[in-house]
Parts: sequence; C-alpha cells; structure tokens
Amino acid sequence: MSEIITIANQKGGVGKTTTAINLAASLAVAEKKVLLVDVDPQANATTGLGFNRNNYEYNIYHVFTGRKKISEIILKTELPKLHLAPSNLGLVGIEQELAKDENLEKKIVLRQALAEVADEYDFIIIDSPPALGSITINAFAASDSVIIPIQCEFYALEGVAMVLNTIKIIKTNINPKLKIRGFLPTMYSTQNNLSKDVVEDLKQNFKEQLFTINDGDEDFIVIPRNVKLAESPSFGKPIILYDIKSPGSLAYQNLAYSILG
Ligand SMILES: Nc1ncnc2c1ncn2[C@@H]1O[C@H](COP(=O)(O)OP(=O)(O)O)[C@@H](O)[C@H]1O
Ligand SMILES: [Mg+2]
Repeated sequence: MSEIITIANQKGGVGKTTTAINLAASLAVAEKKVLLVDVDPQANATTGLGFNRNNYEYNIYHVFTGRKKISEIILKTELPKLHLAPSNLGLVGIEQELAKDENLEKKIVLRQALAEVADEYDFIIIDSPPALGSITINAFAASDSVIIPIQCEFYALEGVAMVLNTIKIIKTNINPKLKIRGFLPTMYSTQNNLSKDVVEDLKQNFKEQLFTINDGDEDFIVIPRNVKLAESPSFGKPIILYDIKSPGSLAYQNLAYSILG
C-alpha cells in the first residue's frame, strides 16, 4: 500500500507546488515508485514537469467527474519511477459542482479513485489548490498525512490555525487516520531576520512537527530561497534534474530521506 501525502496551505505562493514536485522527484530518485497527483486547476505541478495541454487529453477533472479512471490519465515523466496525474483549468468547475452536494460522503470522490492504483506506488503526493474548498477536502479525505509548507515571511503562521482546523474536521468526520506529517519552512533566507523569526516561532509552537534527517536531531530541515528552484519549472524539470547540487535540491533530498525514515 502506498502512503498518500497532501501538500496543503490555503495561502498561495508558499511553496506547495515546488514541494510537491521536488519531494515526489527526490523520492523517485531514491528508487520509490511515486505518483504525483495535481488537483490544482492552475496545473502548476503539471506544467512544472514539462507537460502542456497538448501533451494530454484527459486529466484529473475527468476523474472527479467519473468519466475516467485514474489509471487512464496517468502520464510517465522523465524520471522512470515518477508518474503524474495531470490537472487542467477545467477543474475550476468541480469546486462548485462538489459544493452543491449537501452530503459530505458524496463529495468525496478522490479517495475511491486513488484506491485503484494505491498498490502500484510507494508514495502518492497530492498538490492542492490555495483554498480549503471541496478539492482540498477531497485530498485530505484520501490522504494518510499532510505536509504544510510555511513561507518564511511576515504573517507566516497566520492562517495555519485554519488549515489545522480543517484537518481536524476531516479527521473527525471522514478520515480518522489523517495525520500531520510536518510543517516545512520554505524560502528561508539567511540574510533575512524574519526567516529566523519564523523558524524560531515554529520551534516554539510545533517543534515535534518539524522535519529532521535523523530522529531526535535538532537540525531542522528548511528549504532555502534558491533561484534554481524558481527556474527549474520553466525547463519542465524537477530541481534534481536541473541542478542536483543546488541548495534547493539538497534540501528536498533531505526532506525525502526524512520521510523515508
Ligand atoms: N525555495 C524557493 N526558492 C525560490 N523560489 C521559490 C522557492 N519555493 C517556491 N519558489 C517560487 O515561488 C513561487 C510560488 O511557489 P509555489 O511552489 O508555486 O507555491 P504555491 O504552490 O504554494 O502557490 C513560484 O514562482 C516558485 O518557483
Ligand atoms: Mg501551487
């Protein structure tokens, strides 16, 4: 059985997609079979791996509507162990369609869809949209755990209570096994005192939820601000295939090792 991890934070631009792509790729390079599932209508994880609309006809929208099985939309990527379930702008409509249904159980379609392929992968990583609507609820309902990227900037922790509360509601009502895998400080800059403050804040409040390479370590994993991480999607590549030795690449490899335990 695979471990299903959603990358979530209702704020946009905090590093969700960057984390989803690069964690998935780092796990795949570590010989794990990985499926990256893009459920953001903006489809940044899809384009970031080099796919544009002309490369694929069917996408996660067709899975949400029940027209396709997930196995019918999966694409192979440049990394042999990494597969992608692509998204597309068409997914925007799903948010309203699902919202219409009063019955929570009926809104939950992704969990069943992923069950079809769960045995084929070691990890399924879900990149979610910047909202806590029906799509993200579907991701939470389908997942074993959640990673919450926290951008090292002003008001970083503002809004964290909201995502934690949503996770709690899902846990109580539809998915009791859902856990928080961890908080991941992103875009950390050594030149910026704010960055240090945010990580200090996280240590104070969520120390147990920060990633370390070894258990009991005080060396917490932070993702540095690294221009290579911002550049690599425009080449359609995860950082590990674009600049394997860059600080951003090394940080995501460390995150993968931490998750492998
Ligand atoms: N560690 C980083 N260093 C530099 N740029 C980053 C880093 N993480 C993300 N970015 C850039 O910041 C922007 C937002 O990141 P993204 O992963 O798309 O966030 P989200 O999915 O939460 O909206 C993107 O342009 C991305 O390339
Ligand atoms: Mg994104």
